Amino acid sequence: MYLGIDLGTSAVKTILVDDAQRVVASRSHNLTIDSPRAGWAEQDPGAWIAAVFATLDALKADHAGALAEVDGIGLSGQMHGPVLLDAGMTPLRSCILWNDGRAAAECAVLEQRWPALRQVTGNKAMPGFAAPKLVWIANHEEAIFDAIHLVLLPKAYVRLVLSGEAIEDVSDASGSLWLDVHKRDWSDAGLAATGLSRAQMPRLVEGCAPAGRLRPELAARWGMTKRPLIAGGAGDNPAGAIGIGAIRPGATFITLGTSGAVITPVETVNANPDRVVHTFCHAVPALWLQAGAMLSAASCLAWIARLLGASEADLLAPLGACPAAPSPVSFLPYLAGERTPHDDANVRGLLDGLSHATDRSAIVQAVLEGVAFALADCRDALTDTGLAIAEADAIGGGSRSDLWLAILANVLNIPIHRLAEGETGAAFGAARLARLAVTGETIASVCTPPARVRSFAPDHRLAADYAERLPQWRRLYRRQD
Ligand code: XUL
Repeated sequence: MYLGIDLGTSAVKTILVDDAQRVVASRSHNLTIDSPRAGWAEQDPGAWIAAVFATLDALKADHAGALAEVDGIGLSGQMHGPVLLDAGMTPLRSCILWNDGRAAAECAVLEQRWPALRQVTGNKAMPGFAAPKLVWIANHEEAIFDAIHLVLLPKAYVRLVLSGEAIEDVSDASGSLWLDVHKRDWSDAGLAATGLSRAQMPRLVEGCAPAGRLRPELAARWGMTKRPLIAGGAGDNPAGAIGIGAIRPGATFITLGTSGAVITPVETVNANPDRVVHTFCHAVPALWLQAGAMLSAASCLAWIARLLGASEADLLAPLGACPAAPSPVSFLPYLAGERTPHDDANVRGLLDGLSHATDRSAIVQAVLEGVAFALADCRDALTDTGLAIAEADAIGGGSRSDLWLAILANVLNIPIHRLAEGETGAAFGAARLARLAVTGETIASVCTPPARVRSFAPDHRLAADYAERLPQWRRLYRRQD
C-alpha cells in the first residue's frame, strides 16, 4: 500500500493506492491564498502542514487498516515557492508562490549577474521561479535574508516535517533556477548569483529514489506500523506525468488545472528559454520535461463562475458538448500575468468584442477558448524547439469538460484524449514514485499509461474557423502594450 500526497495551491490531496495500483481512498483539505498586494500570492507553510495532517487524520479515521499496510509515501507539490528556514528550522516568512509577480525587476538583475543562467538552467529567469524571489527578499527584507539557514521548496518542507530530513528531488529543484538541469545538480555559480551557497540547500535525489522515513511518532499517530519510506517525489507537473505514464519521449500531455501547460518528455534537452519554454528534469533519471506553461487555466473558469454567481456546471450546461462556431467574444486569460510565451507578470486579462447581444454563454465560451488559444501559444513555443506534437492527453480538473476538450482539439487541430483516472494525476504519480523507491521495480512496469476513455477529434470546418481567429486573438495582447 502506498500514499501519494499532493500539496497543491488550492488543496492538499492525499490518496491511498493499493499494490494493484487502485485508488483505495482519497481525502483533501482546502488551502487559501493570501494576496497582500495586487499580483502577490503567498501561503503560510504551517497551513500546508495542517492540511497534510488533516488528510492523514481523516484517512486514519476510516481506513486505519489500510494505513497500517503503507510501505511508502510519495510527495508531489506546487513548484517554485521558496520556504526560508532559520537555524531552528522555523519558517522566516510566508512562502511566495509560483504565481506571484513581484520579482520581475530582479529577473533582469539575476540574468546580468549570471550570464550563463539560461544555458545552465534551461530556463529564462521569471518572477514565479525561486531565485528572483530571493533577490527580492535580499533587497526588501534584509534581516530575513541574513537569517536564512535553509531554502526548501514546498513539498520538501512537508518532507522535513514528516521525516526530519532536508532532501529535494531534481524535478522540483529545476524550478528554482539554481539547478544545472543538464548535470541534475545544484549550480554553485547560480547560487552565488543569489547570495546563497550549497550549504543552504537540501541534498538532491531523483524522484523515484528513497528520501527519508516517516518519523516514529508520526508513524504511531497514523498507525503506519511499517514506518514508511518517503520517495524523492516530484513537482506537480512531473508527478502528473508519472501518474499518466508519460515516460516516453514525445508523449505530450496538457494540464488543465489551476495553471495550465503543454508538456513533452524528452531524452535530450533542447531548451528554448527565449520563447519561454520551461525545461525541468523529469521525476525519473535520464529524462527531462519541456513545457509551455500558463499561469491561469481552470482558474479562469472558476473566476467567471464567481463573477457571475453561478456554479461552473451551470455555466457549462447550456453550451452543449461542442461549439457551432467561435464565440464573438475574445478573452485573454492573463488573470495573474503570463509565462509562455510572453513572460509578462504585469499583463492582465481582457474581454473583447462585447455588445448588447452578448449573453452569458458567449462569455463563458470565450473564457474556454481564451485558455485554449493560450495553450496553442504554448504548443507553438514547444514545436519551435523541433518537437512534433500530433496528439495530446488531457489531465486536470478542466479535462472533465467535454466542451473544453472539444474546443482544445479544434484550436490545436490535433486529437485530444481524456484519460481514465486523469484527475488523480499528481497524487497518483507521487504514490507511484513511492512504489518505485520501495520496490525497485522497473519504471516502465509501474508507470503504465491509463486507458484513453474518450478522444476528441478536430472538425475540419471548426478548426479552420479557430485558425482564422488565433492571429486576431494574439493581436489583443499586442494592443495592450
Ligand atoms: C509550473 C508551475 C505550476 C505550479 C503550480 O511551472 O508553476 O505548475 O507548480 O501548479
